[in-house]
Amino acid sequence: MKKIYRNIKIERISDSTKVIWISRPDKLNALDENTLKEIMNAIDELKGEKQIKCLVMRGEGGKAFSAGGDLSNLRLKNSVEAIKFAKLGQKTTNEIENFPHPVIAAIDGYALGGGCEMALACDMRIATEKSIFSQPEVKLGIMPGWGGTQRLTRIVGFPKAKEMNYLGSKISAEEALNIGLINKLVENGKLDLEIMSISKKIERLSTTAISLIKETMNKGSQTNLETGLELEAAYFGAAITSEDGKKGINDFLNKQK
Ligand code: COA
Repeated sequence: MKKIYRNIKIERISDSTKVIWISRPDKLNALDENTLKEIMNAIDELKGEKQIKCLVMRGEGGKAFSAGGDLSNLRLKNSVEAIKFAKLGQKTTNEIENFPHPVIAAIDGYALGGGCEMALACDMRIATEKSIFSQPEVKLGIMPGWGGTQRLTRIVGFPKAKEMNYLGSKISAEEALNIGLINKLVENGKLDLEIMSISKKIERLSTTAISLIKETMNKGSQTNLETGLELEAAYFGAAITSEDGKKGINDFLNKQK
């Protein structure tokens, strides 16, 4: 049965690419419990769709990817409830990170706090010139809870992650590109085009190979080099003996495209 969502929308933009729109534009797509649960349900639903090869996360309204965890609810929580909220956000971002196909964060505006952390869980971040990034929690006397002290460090390194988390300053899309927080900067108004271009490239490549690469890289990042390389060898074996692997190598040797 088709699920009904209130705070998100799912859009198909090509045969094999779907977009999850965070859809609370009047609240700058702030992420409350319901929205997080809907994102998890949607991911679960899309995981089961055979034709999906690429997923895009996006915020509705043209002003924000997401302005972060919903502060109106957060204000009323005791520490046990706050831990539960942190774990819910972490579960959601883990689900995004572990989606079997590439997930692209398409950022057009604010990606703040939990919004930035959600984008960090995606495989790639593409942002427009007007986008602004921050982990502003410190300015509210609190701290990140959905990976800002962990994934951000792994992506941009300790110095910049500490600067962002300690100072809570807003950084421009240009600076985000310079520190490796985003993969690509596009002109305002050109985000759709860029997302289409990347998703088309992904769609044309081997789903098996990309999924194996993603799993190896994600799992490898959680372990030491020796174990990561063991994992790589095992997955390499799976890739070489896969249908796509055999065909790809054969086609090359037979000088076929
Ligand atoms: N949680 C709940 N509501 C939020 C929100 C959040 N994180 N961020 C924005 N909103 C709401 C505002 O309360 C406002 O609602 P209202 O119209 O009912 O009053 C609406 O979204 C629009 O925000 P507003 O502040 O009026 O827009 P702005 O353009 O003046 O400022 C921001 C935009 C992003 C700079 C500002 O909203 C902001 O600083 N938000 C909080 C960001 C943050 O600290 N995130 C980390 C949370 S842990």
